[in-house]
Amino acid sequence: MTENIYPIKDIMESRSDKEHLLGQRGITIWFTGLSGSGKSTVAIALESLLSSRGFLCRILDGDNIRAGLNSNLGFSEADRNENIRRIAEVCKLFTETGIITIAAFVSPTNDLRRMARDIVGEDDFVEVYMSTPLEECERRDVKGLYARARRGEVKNFTGISAPFDIPEHPTLSIDTTDSRPEECAQLIFNHIAERISLPSKESGYEENYI
Ligand code: ADX
Repeated sequence: MTENIYPIKDIMESRSDKEHLLGQRGITIWFTGLSGSGKSTVAIALESLLSSRGFLCRILDGDNIRAGLNSNLGFSEADRNENIRRIAEVCKLFTETGIITIAAFVSPTNDLRRMARDIVGEDDFVEVYMSTPLEECERRDVKGLYARARRGEVKNFTGISAPFDIPEHPTLSIDTTDSRPEECAQLIFNHIAERISLPSKESGYEENYI
């Protein structure tokens, strides 16, 4: 299907141009975990921490993307696959623009997460597993969806009537049962701080960059 398509990548400004303009390096931080595990809450705390340190970031999360870009998709296996494929392509675009991209999606299976990693690129992909147990997510039930799923009113609900594979090799695992969102965000920030910084940003000198 990509026959007769000629990307103009080589004449556009490069990723490095964009990163130097912004004074940071792009990366995708990919949150995975059950609904209610704290993905969006920690993503928002991380956004605020990054902004306070002068880093430009962008959150993409399930409920927002499904209201717009992916409004034609549901929760069948095929639709979740297409959901994650499109999101990962968007993450790649943002990341290559030098933006710290925070993706917060259930992304319930190893296959889905592997696809996202392959699309974004191994070097630009940090996987954060929100390991908050199902019992705690269900206890919170912020959206009332667990109760509805238990009553059979929501089909294919992850953790109840659809599978969630425990991630095999996440970069970080975070259980939000007893920790504040700001602490979790700090943990992630500490992990990526060096990776997202340009030398000029840390030391204050101008890089000799053409
Ligand atoms: S994913 O499985 O395709 O990665 P995504 O993160 O986009 O899911 O969307 C999950 C959000 O949609 C949940 O936080 C929840 O609010 C809502 N939702 C509605 N129906 C379902 C369902 N059957 N399974 C999981 N989440 C659902």
